[in-house]
Amino acid sequence: MAYSEKVLDHYENPRNVGSFGKDEEGVATGMVGAPACGDVMKLQIKVGKDGVIEDAKFKTYGCGSAIASSSLVTEWVKGKTINQALEIKNTEIAEELALPPVKIHCSILAEDAIKAAVADYKKKHEA
Ligand code: FES
Ligand code: FES
Repeated sequence: MAYSEKVLDHYENPRNVGSFGKDEEGVATGMVGAPACGDVMKLQIKVGKDGVIEDAKFKTYGCGSAIASSSLVTEWVKGKTINQALEIKNTEIAEELALPPVKIHCSILAEDAIKAAVADYKKKHEA
């Protein structure tokens, strides 16, 4: 299948691959899987005391579109508050990367990963 140029760019030069130590201050982790294909995405955010996401990293075991979606959202969440990050929609990811219909679930995985990471942060930091 043909990938769009933006997918290829993120796939070949993924931004922010890796992980933070899970005990680092302000780090939260979202791990999600796609039932449709078995791909797995791990997204970590590092949140400052002011609730702003300072940094993000990902590891994705999956297709090019899943890798590109996760790479893109690590860029998009930086500088946002955790609640602003929750507003990122998979449709925006799919549009930015020009994903074809069969790859929409890859962008849903990225949206779910953000939500899972923020939920983990709130669980750890809000009583
Ligand atoms: Fe091929 Fe997701 S279906 S990696
Ligand atoms: Fe399943 Fe991309 S094909 S995440």
